Amino acid sequence: MKEKITKLLSEINAVHIKNKAQLEEFRLKYLSKKGEISTLFEGFKQVPNELKKEMGQLLNTLKNEAQEKFSHFQNNINNETESSNLNDLTMPADPIETGSRHPLSIVRNEIIEIFSRLGFTVSEGPEIEDDWHVFTALNFPEEHPARDMQDTFFIEKTPDILLRTHTSSVQVRVMEKQKPPIRIIMPGRVFRHEVISARAHCFFHQVEGLYIDKNISFADLKQTLLYFAREMFGENTQIRLRPSYFPFTEPSAEMDISCNLCGGKGCTFCKHTGWVEILGCGMVDPNVLEKCGINSKEYTGYAFGMGIERITNLKFQVKDLRMFSENDIRFLKQFSNTI
Ligand code: PHE
Repeated sequence: MKEKITKLLSEINAVHIKNKAQLEEFRLKYLSKKGEISTLFEGFKQVPNELKKEMGQLLNTLKNEAQEKFSHFQNNINNETESSNLNDLTMPADPIETGSRHPLSIVRNEIIEIFSRLGFTVSEGPEIEDDWHVFTALNFPEEHPARDMQDTFFIEKTPDILLRTHTSSVQVRVMEKQKPPIRIIMPGRVFRHEVISARAHCFFHQVEGLYIDKNISFADLKQTLLYFAREMFGENTQIRLRPSYFPFTEPSAEMDISCNLCGGKGCTFCKHTGWVEILGCGMVDPNVLEKCGINSKEYTGYAFGMGIERITNLKFQVKDLRMFSENDIRFLKQFSNTI
């Protein structure tokens, strides 16, 4: 038995293991239940008592040596596979997700850019407003049915504090502070008490425009809007102004553009009319100028207001308004290349 043990010891010392297959071979040969070392341990029962101590020690040394050798090579092989993964420079890198602009921001920025080429600058105002800036100064008489045109969220009653229903409130704030000439656009979020559906939401975004100076006429308004429509939707775009009513403009109009999906021929989007409505506009009512401290004999002006969601729908053909506020990354990602 002693000879057998010394033979195995030198055999084990000489072994060099290079891969997983060889490691497994080593384990089966020496360390498994049916391996050489276990067989020797079985034979230990027949060893005469006086030799038991010596043989026992030798057997244990053999077992430990084999075990150590096995662990040593096992570690080596594992480390090698790990570091070879790290060194593989052809492996694809982890993707870094970059954010993208919201489609409404893309369109708002484009609108601002177009009007800034005509000398308009940006003004902003609060979303929580009072009755004066949203209605009274804009020529909505108290208790007048015109107030029902815009269903309002009230925050406090007497005095009325409310969420602005349109960005026209910013017009009032600027006219109260600044002397003409005034040439501004006012982007912002507005709120209306509407049932949420694919076509309406309780909040949306508008861009308002205001130009006040001496001798401003409806022709200036029309030319400005034509320039905007062609810059935004392409040079073949046609515009059409229809008479309308807003308490703060006189005369008032609504503007349609030729449907940019069918080129004006008629499709389901434009309900086969060839035209789609995009904004409201008009000459600022002299009453409004006077209420804001501007002499209406000396100055005239025009104003217009449009919904950013509507313009975005026309540009990107988004069918459901709710998509804009759902934060679905699959939807938002689609606009990342259009900044
Ligand atoms: N404030 C109007 C609306 O929200 C739009 C508008 C603005 C109309 C300016 C005329 C002039 O419906």
